[in-house]
Amino acid sequence: MKKRVLSGIRATGRLHLGNYLGAVKGMLELQDRSDLETLYMVADLHTLTTPYNKSELLDNIRNVVLDYLAIGLDPEKSTIFIQSHIPEHTELFYLFSTVVSLARMQHLPTYKDKIKQYPNASTVALLNYPILMAADILIYKASLVPVGIDQEPHLEVAREIARKMNDTYGTKFPEPVRFATNGEYIPSLSGEGKMSKSIEGSYINLTDDLKTIQKRLAGAPTDSGKGEVVPTTGGVANLLKFVELFEGIDKRKNYELSYMNNGIKYGELKTELAEAIYKELRSIQEKRKELEHKTSYVDEVIKSGAEKARKIASETVLEVKEKIGLL
Ligand code: ADP
Ligand code: TRP
Repeated sequence: MKKRVLSGIRATGRLHLGNYLGAVKGMLELQDRSDLETLYMVADLHTLTTPYNKSELLDNIRNVVLDYLAIGLDPEKSTIFIQSHIPEHTELFYLFSTVVSLARMQHLPTYKDKIKQYPNASTVALLNYPILMAADILIYKASLVPVGIDQEPHLEVAREIARKMNDTYGTKFPEPVRFATNGEYIPSLSGEGKMSKSIEGSYINLTDDLKTIQKRLAGAPTDSGKGEVVPTTGGVANLLKFVELFEGIDKRKNYELSYMNNGIKYGELKTELAEAIYKELRSIQEKRKELEHKTSYVDEVIKSGAEKARKIASETVLEVKEKIGLL
């Protein structure tokens, strides 16, 4: 049997470069490997764990599917589906919750960060987030998960649940590991923290045109352009990381040499970088425009994805119910 890969993204708005480089590029790479079966979903249920706009939810869910397809996820190679279309995820989530302690969930750093960010929205759903994510992965017995480094604590929980279920009930869940891309941590344009859609001034969206990319890069902090040591943190370090990702490592090395010799001209660096980023995004944007008119094609992708996913998911739930003693 082929090893399985599962990943997902919440439907909280349009994708940015962090999502693209940290998660979707990994998904893209893995769908071409003949030893793997890939399943990629829109985590719409997870979207409900933080405040969201009800009137925009359905559009946002569909937008993730359109972005996936525009970036190159191919329904001939990957099963593309929407999490809530497979009710077995929530069924398995409940069964998993019986082997997880409350304290373990309360002490998770990702949970603590989220309640700090949304102090009025600390629901049980938010607390349970990692257990549902474990169910998403393990219901397909997936062993590889392409996501950014910030998701590592959630994968740790998924591995613990797999072990606990296997020890307690004799199931045979794999312990899933993260598949890392070289963009596993995309820094914020502001020079501090990571690129995130909830931090204004931190991101470049996949839908941005050249002018917008230029404007966003213009706001990225720099220095005098010269010094004995090339900075490893802050605005300049982050700009160099983007140069590496979009223009290659050699280009980065050239800039590093300039920094230590005659100095970097940041105006030129930013102009070139904006063009390189836009070049990669333009083809995605063009493909996406085409897809917006292919309503019935996209509907069919979502429908057949759900059928394929559900077949696997319902088998796993049956197995688990038997092992637990419910059947
Ligand atoms: P955001 O932090 O903007 O809300 P999500 O939490 O929806 O993004 O993340 C969706 C996916 O994109 C996850 O796999 C996550 O690890 C990845 N991701 C998000 N931001 C970054 C980043 N700055 N660098 C690398 N990967 C990221
Ligand atoms: N937690 C992930 C994020 O914030 C989304 C997600 C939900 C996910 N279920 C998953 C990712 C299963 C990988 C596998 O982006």
